[in-house]
Amino acid sequence: MSLDAVLARIDSDLPAATDRLLELLRIQSISTDPAYKAECDKAADWLVADLRSIGVSAEKRPTPGHPMVVGHVDGPGPHVLFYGHYDVQPVDPLNLWDRDPFDPAIEETPKGKVIRGRGASDDKGQLMTFIEACRAYKAEHGALPCKITFFLEGEEESGSPSLVPFMKENAEELKAEIALICDTGLFQSKTPAIMTMLRGLLGEELTITGPDKDLHSGMYGGIAMNPARVLTKILGGLFDENGVIQVPELYEGVPELSDELKAQWEGLGFDAEGFLGDVGLSIPAGERSVSPLEMIWARPTAEINGIWSGYTGDGFKTVLPSEAHAKISFRLVGTQDPEAIRKNFRAWVEAQIPADCKIAWKDHSCSPASQMSTEHPGFEAARKALSDEWPDPAAYAGCGGSIPIAGYFKTILDMDAMLVGWGKDDDQIHSPNEKYDLESYHKGIRSWARILDAMSA
Ligand code: BES
Ligand code: ZN
Repeated sequence: MSLDAVLARIDSDLPAATDRLLELLRIQSISTDPAYKAECDKAADWLVADLRSIGVSAEKRPTPGHPMVVGHVDGPGPHVLFYGHYDVQPVDPLNLWDRDPFDPAIEETPKGKVIRGRGASDDKGQLMTFIEACRAYKAEHGALPCKITFFLEGEEESGSPSLVPFMKENAEELKAEIALICDTGLFQSKTPAIMTMLRGLLGEELTITGPDKDLHSGMYGGIAMNPARVLTKILGGLFDENGVIQVPELYEGVPELSDELKAQWEGLGFDAEGFLGDVGLSIPAGERSVSPLEMIWARPTAEINGIWSGYTGDGFKTVLPSEAHAKISFRLVGTQDPEAIRKNFRAWVEAQIPADCKIAWKDHSCSPASQMSTEHPGFEAARKALSDEWPDPAAYAGCGGSIPIAGYFKTILDMDAMLVGWGKDDDQIHSPNEKYDLESYHKGIRSWARILDAMSA
């Protein structure tokens, strides 16, 4: 099967491929908000119809949450599974968007054309790069180069509650030789990356209660304990002056990097100044003794993702609040154990709660870090294929984000997973004005065609 003809077709079909992505982006598939349940269903239906249009026998498969989309198509090459997610993050704060997040469009920017809208990069644009590569192959050759299982999820952005049971119940059907995951980015805008390390994630939510009702801060201030004071004191002690997290035993399981890996990462020439400069910062805030790239890829973090208490509306209110809340997440590396960290973090916080206050906890995401093996020959084939498409050769890289399914492919289905994607650091995923460069979309489609071709060879 000639690859050149497929690539030429991808080039000429780009406007139509972009229109198809815009259609998918108009569906408001916010998985975390029950108000958008029907929209998640609609996105799944859209994908089933689109996959069927290229000869994939696809179905929407129910779960207790949002449906999965599973499809199969035969081909001569090895059996690969493709994973992506059709759900998106909430859009708030809506007032910071320059357009309706679900009325996507192509925009001209100083850096080139972008597809603007919620999910353009994470992950609808990315998953469509794979489907479009398949479409071009099918149109050109009447068949696909590999046997492919499609596995598209609608709950990734809300912690994938149905994923593990679904994978276990359908293990035989989902098992393939290797999983391809398109939910990560380029290393730098001209350098494609195969991500071999992903950080894990632990989410915690806490409520500290002081007085049993909101109080007048003049009448009670001074005598009544304020839970916001308790919370801020505790969170203020989360790091020492060197950026080291103070939760006991947190660093257990954090590996020392080998000299070889350190040297390889140094060779990548990461531009920390530019990376921070793009978001209005200049000083790395992690552990003092650690290099910037290690801070993102190879060290744990503790982040306060949300904190609220008292009156935060317009104007002013002299309230002494009854409650103070925070959402805190930890990114995990190596063999750090999320459950042990949960236990130690809670004990550390609880030991600092005054006798007069109470604390309540709510569990959120919990998944360990994953380390990919790159022994499957598909990895080297893909690395070469990517190096043919992009100006710089492809790099094996780490990833600061978390994609729990990458680990489950190994533990549940005993498959290696290869993570490649075309997102850029400035895509503003999860934020207002999310975009995907038209170049990411175009070269992403071409890259998948090259990877499938190389894997089938
Ligand atoms: N696509 C992201 C993962 C990602 C982020 C890859 C940044 C590369 C760079 C994914 O959709 C995501 O956001 N995952 C969540 C975890 C999930 C359990 C909520 C994350 O990393 O916060
Ligand atoms: Zn994603």
